Amino acid sequence: MIEIGYRYGELHWSGSDQNWSYAHYQVQKIELALENALERRPKRRGSTEATFIPALNEMARVVREHDAARFGEAFERMTAACNACHAAEQVPSFYVVAPEARYSPIRSMPDEMVPDPQ
Ligand code: HEC
Repeated sequence: MIEIGYRYGELHWSGSDQNWSYAHYQVQKIELALENALERRPKRRGSTEATFIPALNEMARVVREHDAARFGEAFERMTAACNACHAAEQVPSFYVVAPEARYSPIRSMPDEMVPDPQ
């Protein structure tokens, strides 16, 4: 969950930068981290599939389509789904909000440095 929290923050900033390939990377890593967490605690799978997965899938779609106009809405929906699981799992003190500061040094690469696709 520490990893998911970090990646959630990175996803937020990558969306506001419109750094879509980095956003896509974070969505995939959140999926993987969640899958690993559910393998350890299979009882949580049912509620996650009902609430969190649809929100994450919508976020994945927005990122895939570079849909900047819908990013904020998808991010809010995903945040609500994080918190719904925390409530359902009896950790109401773990209330998630979008980050106010950046922790990672990653930004969009200046255009002139981006390599040609191979
Ligand atoms: C499957 C239910 C579930 C979902 C979905 C979920 N969480 Fe959690 N999260 C938990 C539980 C349960 C804990 C309490 C610690 C533990 O048991 O791992 C937790 C703890 C955390 C922590 C504290 C970690 C620590 O040890 O400091 C963070 C940060 C966190 N979640 C972020 C998120 C974010 C951000 C999302 C959405 C992108 C999210 N979580 C989605 C269940 C969930």
